[in-house]
Amino acid sequence: MPRRRTAILISGRGSNMTALLEAARDPDYPAEIVLVVSNRESAPGLERARAAGIEAVTITSKSFSSREAFDTALDTKLRDADIDMVCLAGFMRLLTPGFVAAWRDRLINIHPSLLPLFPGLDTHAAALSAGVRLHGCTVHFVRAEVDSGPIIAQAAVPVLFADTPDTLADRVLGAEHRLYPLALSLVASGQARVVDEHVVVDDPPDELVGTALISPSFG
Ligand code: GRF
Repeated sequence: MPRRRTAILISGRGSNMTALLEAARDPDYPAEIVLVVSNRESAPGLERARAAGIEAVTITSKSFSSREAFDTALDTKLRDADIDMVCLAGFMRLLTPGFVAAWRDRLINIHPSLLPLFPGLDTHAAALSAGVRLHGCTVHFVRAEVDSGPIIAQAAVPVLFADTPDTLADRVLGAEHRLYPLALSLVASGQARVVDEHVVVDDPPDELVGTALISPSFG
């Protein structure tokens, strides 16, 4: 099976992007990262991508009069690059329902909480305020509603009594960097499929068995 041509959309530092680029350096990895798009010119991830030899471009909202126009330009760039799959990795911009529908089941996102808990921003502060003892991250197929869609994989980390939003964010980020490459590989290889708005995984790898991902040392 040919490697799926994959684009990553970012807005900032791009540490998840870097984790995906590193995984995709293995020629046996089922996705090949060929394009990075940022909606912010100043995103540090752009330079990181270029340093790795990946085409990295900016499409800023300033140049467009509407969300639809921005998303049309983005869609055109992705199609011109012959992209099969799109990964959102800290892309801080809402996508229009039309764009989401056009890329249905080929568009995935990482969110720093165990969805459906804590959608939206400031998830680590929300987890601390709710007093949960487990927190984590989710990779899911994207649907029109923010932070919704069939869940591909999740990783849990403990919440420690001394945690601040920053220390908890660091622990979750370590988990994100392991989870996202695993989830992309499941989708790109065709092992993970959407059936009735739930994800079915053929031959799930050991890492996907829930308890393996719940560990104080995780990340
Ligand atoms: C990550 O926590 C991701 O889950 C969230 O935004 C953050 C992006 O970080 N959507 P990075 O740019 O990948 O370092």
